[in-house]
Amino acid sequence: MSDVLIAPSILSGDFCNMEKSVRDLEKWGGDWVHCDVMDGVYVPNITFGMPMIAAIRKITQKTLDVHLMITEPEKYVERFADAGADIITFHPDASKDPSACIDLIKGKGKKAGVVFNPNVSVEKYAYLFDKCDLVVVMTVYAGYGGQKLIPECIERIPLIKKLSGNKIPVEVDGGINKETYVLALKAGADVLVAGSAVYKADDPADVIRTIRGTL
Ligand code: DX5
Ligand code: ZN
Repeated sequence: MSDVLIAPSILSGDFCNMEKSVRDLEKWGGDWVHCDVMDGVYVPNITFGMPMIAAIRKITQKTLDVHLMITEPEKYVERFADAGADIITFHPDASKDPSACIDLIKGKGKKAGVVFNPNVSVEKYAYLFDKCDLVVVMTVYAGYGGQKLIPECIERIPLIKKLSGNKIPVEVDGGINKETYVLALKAGADVLVAGSAVYKADDPADVIRTIRGTL
């Protein structure tokens, strides 16, 4: 038995029918709704913004886990909080003042976290961990769903646990599927994001059960 949480990413859902995509993940047993916000500047792709978060907030009680892949997130985090995000994570290398950005999120009564792209130093931003509610390890370069997990990134999970005195939950994002989830769980992951592996599966509920590690 593990008590890992599963956060299906609606990036791999149906953009013509987001309500169904959220209802489906509830039905399949997902825990959080992972919302990937991309601005076309920090990452070479554009997805959706606050209106989508507000629309999803209206139709579900599930935790909205909003992953901001945007430049200067401090300019927008309060509006994402107002839109209904429960957890807001951002890339510290995209921020002019990551510590202040966390304060803005927490000032809105929301949970805050930082996300590490594979090429961003964990040690450099470890000073933020005391203020974070969670840390996200990217196991692909942020920007697109459906990429292959980079195994070297897995080592960052125990590193973050160590640097935070084993206090901070770690979420793993990118390339998690029925084959790779074991690597993340063995390394101590607390939350697994899965986009394509869930939404493109023949039996998504089975994928969620499997990667939860309770089979
Ligand atoms: C990538 C996003 C991920 C992505 C995960 O930039 O942050 O959340 O949607 O998708 P899969 O599980 O398909 O790698
Ligand atoms: Zn994400």
